[in-house]
Amino acid sequence: MTRPAAANRRGAPTPSAAANDERHGDADWRCSTESVEPNLHFRLMAFSYGFRDTFLPRRRILSEARIEPGMRVLDYGCGPGSYLLPAAELVGEAGRIYALDKHPLAIRSVRKLISRRRLTNVETILSGCETGLPDNEVDRVLLYDVLHCLAAPTSVLQELRPVLKPDGALSLNDHHTAEGEIVSVVTASGLFRLLRRGQRTYTFSPGQQ
Ligand SMILES: C[S@@+](CC[C@H](N)C(=O)[O-])C[C@H]1O[C@@H](n2cnc3c(N)ncnc32)[C@H](O)[C@@H]1O
Repeated sequence: MTRPAAANRRGAPTPSAAANDERHGDADWRCSTESVEPNLHFRLMAFSYGFRDTFLPRRRILSEARIEPGMRVLDYGCGPGSYLLPAAELVGEAGRIYALDKHPLAIRSVRKLISRRRLTNVETILSGCETGLPDNEVDRVLLYDVLHCLAAPTSVLQELRPVLKPDGALSLNDHHTAEGEIVSVVTASGLFRLLRRGQRTYTFSPGQQ
């Protein structure tokens, strides 16, 4: 099933959120206006992930997110779906994976995986920001290798924060971004708090709203 993204849940950006996004080169906080990369770039990336995932299976990274059976997980910027199968296995039939990406080719790859593997617990969302999910819907948000791609990171984080349950967690990695920058961007405006550093990921808990 593909879920259409809902109307923007956010109001105007806070001054610090807007400033943060401006530092990332996008004064326009409506991140849904972002463009997608050319299809060839996406295909090359998807091809290279075959090697990446052989040398470092995604399940090893997911283990740091502490995903349990029955959980609902949003894989934000899911790309061709490297985390999909292990995540779908971890949550099991009672759980749910929402695979979101702004690139139509990503959604197409994930849909192929869903039908080839007969996955019944995965939904796709084509969006550059809004998830269309209700508040307090998910136990985990995965933001893997996506932060550096975001033109308006704080706007996306503002969108993700309410979707996460109060005891949920944002699991993030990005080898393109320095640790200090990751922590300062994600904790801006008190949206999230750094909970722990793993070997390959950072885990953030939602801040007070
Ligand atoms: C480098 S890939 C990482 C894919 C996947 N998370 C992984 O690690 O295998 C980044 C993905 O994020 C998606 N992306 C970038 N900006 C986005 C945005 N604003 N909203 C949704 N997806 C976005 C891109 O289309 C791309 O598929």
